[in-house]
Amino acid sequence: MSAIVNEASLAEQIRKFGQPSLFVGENENDSPWVPFVPDIFIRHLAFDVRSNTFINVLWVQKPGMLGTHRHRGPVWGYVLEGSWYYKEHDWVARPGSYLYENPGAVHTLMVDDPKGMKTLFCLNGALEFLDDKGRVADTLDVFWFVDHYVSHCRKHGLKINEQLWI
Ligand SMILES: [Fe+2]
Repeated sequence: MSAIVNEASLAEQIRKFGQPSLFVGENENDSPWVPFVPDIFIRHLAFDVRSNTFINVLWVQKPGMLGTHRHRGPVWGYVLEGSWYYKEHDWVARPGSYLYENPGAVHTLMVDDPKGMKTLFCLNGALEFLDDKGRVADTLDVFWFVDHYVSHCRKHGLKINEQLWI
């Protein structure tokens, strides 16, 4: 069987339609920790406004919780530091733990660990924060995450890192 890939043609399409690679270094100039709610910060790493996908590190600095919310798309997570759990599940996520949540998942993130936690998340679709009656109180999609980052940079005179838009 002859090759079905025409390398020259493929290279042409990549040159024409491919997007640049992304590198975000470890320092605050590349992407700062942005306050989210008290004692919880987000370090934004990527925004894809075409697919409503966003990648970030969530840092919960000390024991606490992130209110009950519903995901309208899938979520991937990988724990970097500390430990935490969802009130709705019976597992505890520790460094090296990986999780996947399906669209429609409703959960409440709990941190008992005195050191808090840091977890890398890749999220697709909106998060809907629910009030105590289960009604949608806030909807956070990729544009909310973009605004969270850009508004923080503007407020503190930081350069906006255009590389975060993939
Ligand atoms: Fe979540």
